[in-house]
Amino acid sequence: MCGIVAYVGAKDAAPILLEGLQRLEYRGYDSAGVVVSNKGLKVRKVKGRVADLAKVVPARFKGGLGIGHTRWATHGVPSDVNAHPHLSADERVAVVHNGIIENADELRAKLEADGAVFVSETDTEVLAHLIARTVEDTPSLEEAVRLALKSVVGTYGIAVIDGQRPGEVVVARNGSPIVLGIGEKEMFAASDVAALVRYTRQVVHLEDGELAVLKADGFHTFASGGRETAKEPLTVDVEAGHYDTGGYEHYLLKEISEQPDTVARTLRGRLDERFHIAHLGGLNMDARETRSFRRVKIIGCGSAYYSGQIGAQLVEELARIPADAEPASEFRYRNPVVDPDTLYVAISQSGETYDTLAAVQELKRKGGRVIGIVNAVGSAIAREVDGGIYLHAGPEVSVASTKAFTSTAIAFALLALHFGRVHDLSPADGRRIVDGLAKLPDQIEEILKQGDHIAELARKYATNPSMMFVGRVRGYPVAREGAQKLKEISYIHAEAYPASELKHGPLALIGPDMPTVAIVPDDELLDKNLTTLGEIRARGGNVLMVGHRRPDAKLADDSIVVPKNEIELDPILLTIPLQLLAYHAAVALERDVDRPRNLAKSVTVE
Ligand code: F6R
Repeated sequence: MCGIVAYVGAKDAAPILLEGLQRLEYRGYDSAGVVVSNKGLKVRKVKGRVADLAKVVPARFKGGLGIGHTRWATHGVPSDVNAHPHLSADERVAVVHNGIIENADELRAKLEADGAVFVSETDTEVLAHLIARTVEDTPSLEEAVRLALKSVVGTYGIAVIDGQRPGEVVVARNGSPIVLGIGEKEMFAASDVAALVRYTRQVVHLEDGELAVLKADGFHTFASGGRETAKEPLTVDVEAGHYDTGGYEHYLLKEISEQPDTVARTLRGRLDERFHIAHLGGLNMDARETRSFRRVKIIGCGSAYYSGQIGAQLVEELARIPADAEPASEFRYRNPVVDPDTLYVAISQSGETYDTLAAVQELKRKGGRVIGIVNAVGSAIAREVDGGIYLHAGPEVSVASTKAFTSTAIAFALLALHFGRVHDLSPADGRRIVDGLAKLPDQIEEILKQGDHIAELARKYATNPSMMFVGRVRGYPVAREGAQKLKEISYIHAEAYPASELKHGPLALIGPDMPTVAIVPDDELLDKNLTTLGEIRARGGNVLMVGHRRPDAKLADDSIVVPKNEIELDPILLTIPLQLLAYHAAVALERDVDRPRNLAKSVTVE
């Protein structure tokens, strides 16, 4: 949510900032801006995309120090004026900010009473004024930033420059990510390594409360009290190419198509075909401890939460341990009872989602044992948890989650197998699951081959204003994720219901302009699901059945048939065609597939 880039070195900052902002655009894309320092500050900012900003940055925009921002609006509408950077009235200090300053109104009123004149509606402008008040009299910009932050309540990742101190950038983090990039006589900072990997793989993640001073020849980090902290650089294992579309029309299609590989990467080295177990060394848990948990509680937001519902089902079925999933955003606000016999599992692709991070921190404060299922290596949630499973799915750039969703469900299958085999899952059942998991990459490939058929169905169904998604038990989280994908990228209204609940209310919505996507696996609930299809058809509703066999024409108008795996693992495969259905519906409706309106990836605000 909002992207920040900063540069200090011998090169011109502007092209580096613009290229970095392009990479961060998935975090927010309603306005963008840059400022460089060269005998004073030069600023350009516009409502719109980074490409619009690039058009107004002149070639002669020189200077080896600068900061940039791509915005997802919280305070004030998207506009040129509300775009970052924000400057102090004397145009000496410039600030870019990701997060929310909760006491902005109060600070603004005080500053205005002191004579400050504000030009934007943003909370960020408060910071520029606060820093400018002391920058003249403090020995360093770092000190002025620290003083200003003392009066701020809220979350921030910020980068600040002072036109009169042209060789340094100060960055600080509290709840919104900041990562430093170490170059050859140059330093970078950004909200995400995506903006840095073209220039360096050596990075340092700031912790909450930390502040860093960057100069061309290096950096210093400080804890909130001012004490210098020692940080070990980390080498990130991603390349700039991972952030390209790789010849696909959209990142989303690339990420859907990559899944045979990404699933294989999530499984690599983790399946033991001799003992029919999963190797999950990152959990940092021996067999005795693994046996000691009586419950599993899973938390995550949005699609991560739906993958957690698949996970809860897997844990209950394979390990026979009670498990449930809850949105992290709700969990953190309800003063949860933290139970020592429960294992808490936090899911996050980005590892930065603020609601999930805050829930993890609350759990840790109360002594809960928390593991993470995370894609972004070294991210805030990964650093906060006691252990976990990395997805190794590679960077997910498109705002809608696809490959991370699938890999999370796979990680849960591994976790459930691991728990199951230290409890009562037999070696024979363990083997069944190990073999089933190993088959998934090829089976996903088979589903992807149906792209043209699914695209045709998408064009047919995209003419409807609304769609219903239904599934029973294992199929219900699949239906929820299918509805989520469709609504967020095509803007078609989509609702998901347990198939069993349809007759308790939502059946009233069914009619010729409300088709239903029905998840109908070949499992013990097949007959019940087929009865539901009959009930929908009897009310004039069209049905697109996603399952393992071609349906009777009386029960469904259309179908997508996916390869059969083990019943516990089938939900993973049933989700893939729904990703393609949503993608092709969005393309048919000419939506901005990778950057749907109003959304952003990495929701680092509350
Ligand atoms: C939906 C989607 C979001 C994210 C959610 C959590 O396609 O992408 O619902 O799943 O914001 O994000 P992470 O997994 O980064 O914590």
